[in-house]
Amino acid sequence: MEQIQLDISRVYDFISAEEIKKLSKETKAAQDTLYQGDGQGNDYLGWLHLPSEITAQQIENIEKAVAGLKEKTEILVVVGIGGSYLGARAVNDALSHNFSHLKKGQKAPHMIFAGQNIGEDYMYELLELLEEQSYSIVVISKSGTTTEPALAFRILKNHLEEKVGKEEARDRIIAVTDSSKGALRQLAEEESYRSYIIPDNVGGRFSVFTPVGLIPLAICGVDIRELVSGALEMSKRCDSSIPFEENPAAVYAATRNALYRSGKKIELLVNYQNKLHYVSEWWKQLYGESEGKEGLGIFPAAVDNSSDLHSMGQYIQEGERILFETVVSVEQTDHHVSVPGDPANLDQLNYLKGKNIDHVNKMAELGTILAHLDGGVPNIRISIPALNAHWLGQLLYFFENACGISGYMLGINPFNQPGVEAYKKNMFALLEKPGFEEETAKIKSRL
Ligand code: PA5
Repeated sequence: MEQIQLDISRVYDFISAEEIKKLSKETKAAQDTLYQGDGQGNDYLGWLHLPSEITAQQIENIEKAVAGLKEKTEILVVVGIGGSYLGARAVNDALSHNFSHLKKGQKAPHMIFAGQNIGEDYMYELLELLEEQSYSIVVISKSGTTTEPALAFRILKNHLEEKVGKEEARDRIIAVTDSSKGALRQLAEEESYRSYIIPDNVGGRFSVFTPVGLIPLAICGVDIRELVSGALEMSKRCDSSIPFEENPAAVYAATRNALYRSGKKIELLVNYQNKLHYVSEWWKQLYGESEGKEGLGIFPAAVDNSSDLHSMGQYIQEGERILFETVVSVEQTDHHVSVPGDPANLDQLNYLKGKNIDHVNKMAELGTILAHLDGGVPNIRISIPALNAHWLGQLLYFFENACGISGYMLGINPFNQPGVEAYKKNMFALLEKPGFEEETAKIKSRL
């Protein structure tokens, strides 16, 4: 049976299979803490069983609810930051045509983003673009108070209302937020927007299988049934009843912790399919925000190969030996392009005549893995059969589950993000936000 494969055999030159096996008890304890719900942050475990709790009826309701909007929308602007946008972006980018923004005859709405940065030129150019297009907005914020998306939404809401009128704008705006708290909830109620709830017990970066991911993805034509069914299948493979050796999430969590303890402080997520770039961005948030605390945590970084072999490749091969790699490899491409023969052979590529481009890509992958192993970089390899909603659902759930286990192995709370508040406090003080007078005085004395 086809499935996602986890191969850790290429770390054995650095840590033995026995050493990893020795961690199985500790891994199981962390996994039990997760499944029994008696660890730190246990009020944020709603994601763990989410795939089995989503009913076919709920999915149908979402599909029906967004059908009208899908019809009349050319561009869907997803307004959110962090966990409130990266899941949708990861899945949408992975499944979209590489040139969908330029391709004629594209039926599904294009997904674009706002509120994930505060660039003034970005906003100006976005408004310029939206002037010419028929657009709708999904605004997502669990807290309902995050500055970046709130600012973007205020501007976009004004723009849309001016462009199509208040009534039509109301029909084109969907809010995804907390059931009762936060400014966005209040705004959604007062403006009578259609709204969906982010469950209290699911944190932003674990929310891709809630309306946070499902609503924008459904509008843009992603098969959310397959996405959720993939997550469900993987949740069975990762269940705490599955023995260590057969449990990919447990083995991945144990292996990366063993590498970390041996001095490998940075994990590079590596892809050879550019469409996976935002899966890596999503993964970086998941692991960075979950594990980086109390002076601990593997630093999650990512490269897109083979482009980055010509920029980061030198460091990975010969720089400080604090790295390990996790390669996400896609077995089957959707399309085939083979190398044509050329009688003149001036580019000396005739030795590749008749080979598919993906064959060259796979040899680049294998050659790089072996070179990096020689250079002291251990390798974990995750292979997914193909890039579709089902396997992406499996992959994302696998990473979530392993993150919960891995965080508990580190001894930290994987489900909070206290460090994110520090910059906000300074920004509010500098912006002289009411209520921050004391901080404003303090920060001014530092300038
Ligand atoms: O994972 C998290 O909790 C965060 O990254 C949040 O998703 C992010 O800060 C956005 O928060 P909110 O959805 O409350 O606007």
